[in-house]
Parts: sequence; C-alpha cells; structure tokens
Amino acid sequence: MAYPYQVTNLEQYHSDYKKSIEDPEAFWGNVAENFVWRKKWDRVLDWNFTEPKIEWFRGGKLNITENCIDRHLETMADKPAIIWEPNNPEERVRVVTYARLHKRVCQFAQVLKNNGVKKGDRVCIYMGMVPELAYAVLGCARIGAIHSVIFGGFSAQSIADRLEDAQAAFIVTCDGAFRGNKDIPLKSIIDDALIGNKVVQKVIVFTRTRTPVSMLKGRDVWWEDEMEFAETQVEKDGVVSFPAEETDAEDALFILYTSGSTGKPKGVVHTTGGYMVWTNYTFVNTFQYQPGDVHFCTADIGWITGHSYIVYGPLSAGGTSLMFEGIPTWPDAGRFWDIVDKHKVNILYTAPTAIRSLMGFGTAPLQGKDLSSLKILGTVGEPINEEAWHWYNENVGKKKCPIVDTWWQTETGGVLISNLAGITDAKPGWATLPMPGVQPLLVDEHGKEVTQKDENGFYKGNLCIKAPWPGILRTTYGDHERCRTNYFATYENLYFTGDGAIKDENGFYRITGRVDDVLNVSGHRIGTAEVENAINMHAGVIESAVVGYPHDIKGQGIYAYVIFDKKHTDDDLTKKDILQTVTRIIGPIAKPDKIQFVKGLPKTRSGKIMRRILRKIAEGETQNLGDTSTLLDPDVVDEIKEGKI
Ligand code: WT7
Repeated sequence: MAYPYQVTNLEQYHSDYKKSIEDPEAFWGNVAENFVWRKKWDRVLDWNFTEPKIEWFRGGKLNITENCIDRHLETMADKPAIIWEPNNPEERVRVVTYARLHKRVCQFAQVLKNNGVKKGDRVCIYMGMVPELAYAVLGCARIGAIHSVIFGGFSAQSIADRLEDAQAAFIVTCDGAFRGNKDIPLKSIIDDALIGNKVVQKVIVFTRTRTPVSMLKGRDVWWEDEMEFAETQVEKDGVVSFPAEETDAEDALFILYTSGSTGKPKGVVHTTGGYMVWTNYTFVNTFQYQPGDVHFCTADIGWITGHSYIVYGPLSAGGTSLMFEGIPTWPDAGRFWDIVDKHKVNILYTAPTAIRSLMGFGTAPLQGKDLSSLKILGTVGEPINEEAWHWYNENVGKKKCPIVDTWWQTETGGVLISNLAGITDAKPGWATLPMPGVQPLLVDEHGKEVTQKDENGFYKGNLCIKAPWPGILRTTYGDHERCRTNYFATYENLYFTGDGAIKDENGFYRITGRVDDVLNVSGHRIGTAEVENAINMHAGVIESAVVGYPHDIKGQGIYAYVIFDKKHTDDDLTKKDILQTVTRIIGPIAKPDKIQFVKGLPKTRSGKIMRRILRKIAEGETQNLGDTSTLLDPDVVDEIKEGKI
C-alpha cells in the first residue's frame, strides 16, 4: 500500500523510536508526507507544556475526508470501506464501498450545508451504530464543522449539559437504536434534552427503529428527505462531488466529552492534522494492518476508540472497517465468533470486560465457528488480567495470533503504549513499549523520576509523558485553563495521564489503573464526583461517597455509601429510586452496583471524606484500614464495616 508508514521489523522499531525522540520534527515530517495536504506545513512542531500550547504541522492545509476517502477512489473505489453487521443477524449486511462512502459523505455534507451548518459550528451526534453515524461524522469533517458524538447510553440531562458546553446548534440523531433485545428511543431522549434549549436550530433524524417520534415543525427534519434532495445537488451526470472545505492542521476536528476527577465532564478537543497522522500511524503499526484486512473494532463510535479505530484510522489507511450495531451476548454469547466467521475478520480489537464476560459462557459458544481468518487480536480500555489474556490467546487466537495490549486515553487520540503485533514482544497484562514519538516517565508524588526499583524489582510511579505526540489533546473546549490544571499542572512540564504504572527491566510498562478519582467500569470512564452529584440530586439523600471496587467482569464496580433521610424506611425501593436518579442524571452506565446506607462517613477534622478507608472496605478489607486516628469520629468506620454488602 502506498500510503502508510509502517514499521516492519524490530530493528526498525528501535531505530524509528530513536529518530522520533532525537529529531521529532524530521521524523513526523517524514510520516506526514504520506498524506494529502492542500498546502504543506510551515513548521512540524511548536510546543510548551506550561500554557500548554501544542501545534503540529502549523500552516498545513488539508481536509481529513480527502485523506480518508477521496484519495482511495482511484484504486479502491469498489473496495469495502465499511462492512456493517446489524444488531439482528437475520437482517441484511450492508457493504459500503469507498465510492459509496464518498457519495454518502458528499450528500450528507450538502445536507449540513442546506441546514445552515458552517465551518467551525458544533454538531452533536447522538446515534446508534449505523453506517449513517460514520457518514455524519465524516460529513461534518468535510465541511469543517466540529462533531461531538455522544454515546447512546447517556441521559437527556447529560446531553443537555454537553450541548450547552459546546454551544451546539445542530443535532444528528436516529428515531431509536437497536442494542440486543432493547430499542433505545434516541429522538425522544433528545427531545427531553432540548426542553428549554434556545441554541439548537436543527435536528436531523435518521429512521432506524421506526419508533414513533414527534417531529417539531421548523426544527426537526428527516435524514432520508434531506439526503434525497442533496443527491440532486451533489450528483451531476453520474459524477458525485462536494468540494471539501479547506481546514488548517490545527483547526478543531471534534470534541469528545470525558469524565475527570471533578463533577463536570470535559470536552476534549482534537485537531485535524496531528490526529489524522496519529490515528493512521498507530493503526497501521499497532495492528500491522495489511491491504484487504478486515478490521473489527467492537467499540462504539460514541467513545474515542470508535473515532480512532473504526472511522479515522482504518479509513485513512484505505482499510476495511467492520462496524457492529449490536452487543456481544445477543442473540447469544457466540455473536462475536459468528461475525468473525461470517465476515472473515482478520483483526479483532475488543475490551477486557467483553472477554471476561464471554469467558463466563465457557467455550461452547465458540464451537463450530471458523476463526481461522484471525491474524491479530487487540485489547483496550483497562488492564487485562492474565486469565482473560490466556483465554483470549488460546480459544480465540488459537495461540497463533499476537495480542496487542493498547494503552491510551481519550486525550491521547490514539495508542501510546502497546506492543506492535508480531514485531515487538507481548507480555500478558503488560502494554509493553511506547510507540515511536512517545516518551513515558514514571514519577513519584513530587514529580521526581522514579529511579529505584520496588521490592518486586519494578519501577513504580505515576505515568507521565515528557513531550507531545501528534495526537495529544490541544485544549478542553471553552476552558483552556481547565486543560492546563487537569493535565499539565500536577507535574511541571509533563503531561500527567492520571494512571499508575510499573516498568520492568526491559522498559516494558504495565498500567495498573487510575490514581485519581476516576473509575474504569467496563472500560468506561466515570468520575466518582459525577456519580456522587447524581446521587445527591435525590431528594432524600443527605450525602454520599462513591468509590470503585474490584469486579470480576466490569474490572471495577461502583460502590456508593449513602446517608439517607431517616423518614424513608424501605431500603430496596429507595435503592431503586437512587438508581433511577443516576440513570436520569448521567445514564444507565453510571448506576452503582452496590449501595450501602450509612449513618455517617469517615471524615477528617477538616471535613474531608477519607476515601482510602471507604475503598478498602468496599474491597472487602476489614483489618488494615490504615491510620484512622485523624478521623473526627472513628466509630463510623465500625458501623460501615458491619453494614458492608
Ligand atoms: C483510561 C482511559 C483508550 C480508549 C478507551 C478508554 C485505561 C486504557 C488500557 C490498557 C490498562 C488502560 C487507563 C486510561 N486504559 N487502555 N491497555 N491497559 N489500562 O479511553 O475512557 O479515555 O479511558 O483507560 O486507565 O487512563 P478513556
């Protein structure tokens, strides 16, 4: 393949790594040559982490959709860009060729234009996993509008907050979404989110589930009608065209909201040039993508994994991306294996939580499924336990597929630490080595590099990165100071990831989990403060404290300690009410797994909740709770221990 820059052997990995650190401008300038630029950049990199200011390919002009679509048309017009597997296996598969993708994206770009969307406008996308979601994302990119995709599991309130923060005037949604045996009424959730909203002008609704919807005159329009009209505008004598808007390398491409340690989700902003280079580079190198390979990333496009490894990475590489509408356990726990068999999937990229949940069904669902097309397996989202790693390796990969354990974050745009399939060594449970261009550093709580090994022979510390890579976030939308304090102020001149890690004598990294108040539940990031805020919205709740605890399938579960108004006596009903409240405020993904009613919370004399103690109790520890002498009322600890569920 002409386009990507691929590392093909171990020596090259090491020499590229060295080059990327010694002269990042030369290295990334060289990688970036493999893309279509309307105008070349003036400077590859300019940065400081104090503001922070990070500019990649300054002065470069491009449109990312020309790189993801147009440039492939000459040689790959009839090759599948997207293979869509519907929720219901009986329904027809859709194969979207590059030519068809081009047409649909041009049409949808025209629809956006017809509806008044301009370059720089924010467009909120709240859809299920249908190809139209990819068209919507790419249609925005084609006209230089900034997309902000919201995962279908978020509530009306969460959407309202995000719309407000992004000042989005446009929404693209579906009547509903199919997920397993459920039908989620997306449009009606949007309607709730829009009560009192004065900014949104247009809502474009794609028909998927035929759930009844109310269409507001002047505001709501049907996708199908709009597309039909746009077709007459973009297609003349069988030739399709919609000129792509020229964007600057540093123009925002999208906003994606993610949880942090404070109550309010942040709008992580990624820009065009650097993100394109990074997703493409990490995609072709981590997975060692070869032309014709079918890549199946099981994530939802509502998360960064879907943005980078269903849409932008694979398409910029001229790849074939398999998009799955449903869930791994419906109609049965063999669904992934059916899909691999049916579409001859070569690369499977999923989350440890999915592997653990499928492990629970044993190997019967794998029987009779031909998985011989698989060449490479991947995991993402959370640390993978060795048991799950081996199960994946033996039963899915049949011990012949390298497994890449890819560590990264919404903020990093793409993979930062991972083995490269078949090129660098794997180590179960370890993400292993940094990608070229990535300089990890483990620091202690004062920001000093950890240079002493611990009792197990590892370097252990907080994971930071020393210098920018092309896919790093540029800001948090509308609040640059928040970006600085969140990521660049904890340790001077370092990007702080929020993760703890260990490093072995080979320089391999193992990410051990978050060291801040962020939970990782089934690979989804949830802030404890956010869940507490939601619980506290319930009229009867006086105070709450939320911590994570080890959960066999989800990785972490949510444990909530709640002080409740004495007037209420029915614990079960009250718990359900609290769950309902959290579902309302954040969405079903943030529902606590356990709720324990308590009379008091362990607090210091200055009123700070001692979460360390609550975490230990939630983990099942009763003896070594550490120093409790600074507690205002040490008795509450005994009471909490007794009531543990
Ligand atoms: C957090 C980022 C990266 C896309 C999906 C999640 C955890 C991610 C791994 C891994 C151990 C991992 C980290 C990170 N994480 N990948 N391979 N091993 N932990 O994106 O929602 O931004 O969450 O997920 O804790 O900080 P996200």
